[in-house]
Amino acid sequence: MRNNSIIFLDYASTTPVDPRVVDVMMPYFNQKYGNSSSTHKYGQQAEESLEDSRQVVADLIGSKSKEIIFTSCGSESDNMALRGVAFAERKSRGASHILISPVEHHAVSNTVNQLQELHGFEVEIIPVDRYGMVDPDEVQKRIRPDTAIVSVIHANNEIGSVNPIDEIGKICRSRGIRFHTDAVQGAAHLPVNVDSLNVDLMSIGAHKFYGPKGVGILYVREGTPIVPSLTGGGQENNLRAGTHNIPYIVGLAKAFDLAQQGHQERLSHYLPLRDRIINQTLDQIPSVKLTGHPSHRLPNHTSFVFKGVDGNTLLMMLDAAGYACSSGSACKTGDPEPSEVLLALGFPREWTLGSLRVTIGQMTTMDEIEGFLETLPGLIHQVRELITL
Ligand SMILES: Cc1ncc(COP(=O)(O)O)c(C=O)c1O
Repeated sequence: MRNNSIIFLDYASTTPVDPRVVDVMMPYFNQKYGNSSSTHKYGQQAEESLEDSRQVVADLIGSKSKEIIFTSCGSESDNMALRGVAFAERKSRGASHILISPVEHHAVSNTVNQLQELHGFEVEIIPVDRYGMVDPDEVQKRIRPDTAIVSVIHANNEIGSVNPIDEIGKICRSRGIRFHTDAVQGAAHLPVNVDSLNVDLMSIGAHKFYGPKGVGILYVREGTPIVPSLTGGGQENNLRAGTHNIPYIVGLAKAFDLAQQGHQERLSHYLPLRDRIINQTLDQIPSVKLTGHPSHRLPNHTSFVFKGVDGNTLLMMLDAAGYACSSGSACKTGDPEPSEVLLALGFPREWTLGSLRVTIGQMTTMDEIEGFLETLPGLIHQVRELITL
């Protein structure tokens, strides 16, 4: 997709809103603008659209509609899951141990860091293999009767690896411990049925699948102990107060429906493009490694480290050459420190600083990818020359 002659290859950071999604949202800004808590007809209309959207989402993930909580974003969903269950489990049964992987999004890792520093929880990190994947046996070894919650990312934003969430979930269920997964990336491309995945809580964000920014979902399995994240009115099952953002919720439901219904057909668009980028980059450029799993990865996701390359300089040069890419996560771009995710995979510092993520979208063409692949080797060479000067 071109905008001011820049080709967007950063679809894991965000996506444009699908015009069909914009169309269903529009009437809710200035025609059907009621507050879903009001009793009059405007309110009833809003309430109906809210509950219809909730049902659409519930059907897509195989849950009950009352298990769907609308939030403001994926980060909020992660915060609500971790903080909400940790506090509830400590209150009801004194559980204060939290298990997470070292490759979580900051919305999870910084939340549990705060739970540790300010609230006295004990956080334990489950090791990952060189692809950044969690071995379910490692969860089995570490899970304890006083574990309050286990959280493992579904598909990683930086390196694209997809974790065996169903197997980890089975272990947690057999031990009676609540299990959360951050499926903000995965839900855009893969089926995310909550029973197949064996999850108790799951985070989703609309802007990764051609929905609007600023709206997300937290799935909370019925019976999961959780304290409210926003106190006030009784919205969202008394878990998240605040007047509903109906246009965005309606847009999320439409976008999620399009994403989930069409994901199988989109694989035939994504996979040849993804594999072309991976194969050509590994073949053409010296001292490069693919990060993340070669096959258990998101269908639109490629990521690399280049030895002796400054990733931020590379991104600026790519931008000047007409390609919008990322070094890993949008939240990290511009940060001179190596990514914790890449360090957890065991890469030395001189490799981790040279990371590049190229993620493709529904409109990306093979011509665009061929142009990118012609440009990349020369830029890598130039950045390496700059560093040795
Ligand atoms: C895996 C993952 N979790 C959480 C988030 C945060 O989502 P949001 O931007 O909707 O807050 C992101 C966004 O990049 C993500 O990739």
